[in-house]
Amino acid sequence: MTSERDVLDPEIILDQLGPSLFSENIIFRKTLDSTNRLARELARQGAPEGSVVLAEKQTAGRGRRGRAWVSPGYRNLLFSLLLRPTLPPHEVFALTMTLALAACEAVREMTGLEVLIKWPNDLYVGQKKLAGILTEFALQGKGIDYVILGIGLNVNWNPTASQSTALRLETGRDISRNDLFVGILQRFEEYYKDVSPGRTALYYEKWNALSLIMGKDVEIEFDQETIQGKALGIDYDGALIIRDLKGREKRIRNGDVTVKWWRER
Ligand code: BTN
Repeated sequence: MTSERDVLDPEIILDQLGPSLFSENIIFRKTLDSTNRLARELARQGAPEGSVVLAEKQTAGRGRRGRAWVSPGYRNLLFSLLLRPTLPPHEVFALTMTLALAACEAVREMTGLEVLIKWPNDLYVGQKKLAGILTEFALQGKGIDYVILGIGLNVNWNPTASQSTALRLETGRDISRNDLFVGILQRFEEYYKDVSPGRTALYYEKWNALSLIMGKDVEIEFDQETIQGKALGIDYDGALIIRDLKGREKRIRNGDVTVKWWRER
């Protein structure tokens, strides 16, 4: 498909999606500050589970740890899902992994690229970042009020930053963003319907099979701390298990990972 024709089209999307948790409330905007921001506002106003905010362009896209998410308009996928799961707060993290898995598999199927999941929230091709996920949630009492899963995925452009990549850059062709969006939603829904309290382990093997950092020497920044070690795997609830330099096993729920590529053989 040529880039001229590749505009996001809610009609095509709804037609391809068919009956779905996500077909009732797709909010599409050409320009928006941030899909996560609008999804959160809608969540606070009582929008239902399965609402989706999709934009062609963001003027204030947000990344993790207060960083900006910069993406040219009309080229990429930028969207946020609003969920109201019955999970306990400590299992929310499994939803990030579930979206990462769904997006990873959808991209692999459409492009044949060897995309991997870089725990906890990125997709990579080789040593370059293809997509990032920003998960935000709010509690009500001891339970979850809502979860917003926002993803930015580089599709039809050529990023200039040396640590980033995009599907066009990797495949040499343009990809239909409507098709890819639908593919991600369908897979995510298929997985999400089976995720329930205490049962977040369903996709544990898939996460691990597609993990970029499995067995690698890594450095993880979390809670103002930096820890080095070998990544042993991802646990049932999405936590990373590492063996630190003193040989102790540690479970880390969230953090920023740097892979020590130079130690690869
Ligand atoms: C990261 O890698 O730091 C996460 C990036 C998440 C970016 C997406 S783009 C759609 C959604 N809206 C936002 O403002 N951020 C997320």
